[in-house]
Amino acid sequence: MKVVRSRAEFAAARLTVVGPVGLVPTMGALHAGHEALLAAARADCTSVVATVFVNPLQFGPSEDLARYPRTLDADLAMCERAGVDLVWAPGVEDVYPLGDPLVTISPGSLGSVLEGAVRPTHFAGVLTVVAKLIGLVRPDRAYFGQKDYQQLALIRRMAQDLELGAGIVGVPTVREPDGLALSSRNVYLSPDDRREALAISSALSAGRDAARGGASAVLAVASAVLADAPGVKVDYLELRGPDLGPPPGHGPARLLVAARVGTTRLIDNVEVSL
Ligand code: PAF
Repeated sequence: MKVVRSRAEFAAARLTVVGPVGLVPTMGALHAGHEALLAAARADCTSVVATVFVNPLQFGPSEDLARYPRTLDADLAMCERAGVDLVWAPGVEDVYPLGDPLVTISPGSLGSVLEGAVRPTHFAGVLTVVAKLIGLVRPDRAYFGQKDYQQLALIRRMAQDLELGAGIVGVPTVREPDGLALSSRNVYLSPDDRREALAISSALSAGRDAARGGASAVLAVASAVLADAPGVKVDYLELRGPDLGPPPGHGPARLLVAARVGTTRLIDNVEVSL
């Protein structure tokens, strides 16, 4: 496995990579959820490129950029075990050599709902860095977790709307044995928070299991589970279509939740068959 830091080193190393190329963009603090992305890319592609870059553009002024976990040595060890060929861990000046970009990607109306309602500049920052990484790495496929479902839906849409030429692959969420979705932010949970947070995945699975009763039953059952957890402050609980448009009467839909537990904001989602 080759590890490079600067933009120039990356450009030289990219010339040696043979296709089909799979890109796994990450912000580091890699856990078993990222391992699943790396494994999916490894299974599909001849070469796997992973990036480790905490993208300042996707953090709001009051968000956790400074305290975002940074664990490069452990991240590199996981990439090595996962059979990654090339890791690029650039600095901010490598990704944004001209400073803050003047031209950015607008996520459109899907960027201001759900997560976008509380993080108004977040998805423009995500889409801009993902478009840049796809432009720099030129992968055949890029891999993203279903855990950040709105991010995945927006990246899929961007790749189509802007003809980015890379296939976007969504990889199922990895969960702890008790159901908690893996997230780099779980490290912020106290033992009490961790127990309370279980209501989130329990609500989603209870909602999914109530799907035979239709959309209103899904939402009622999931809300009842969340209402029973006083430490979980729900930001939203919504049922939508797979592309995050309105939910269909029948067929696949997505149940999404965001909630604060202690000082940590968690998101999760599941597929629901209406
Ligand atoms: O999901 C993430 O870790 C980030 O949003 C991504 C896609 C790597 C862009 O910075």
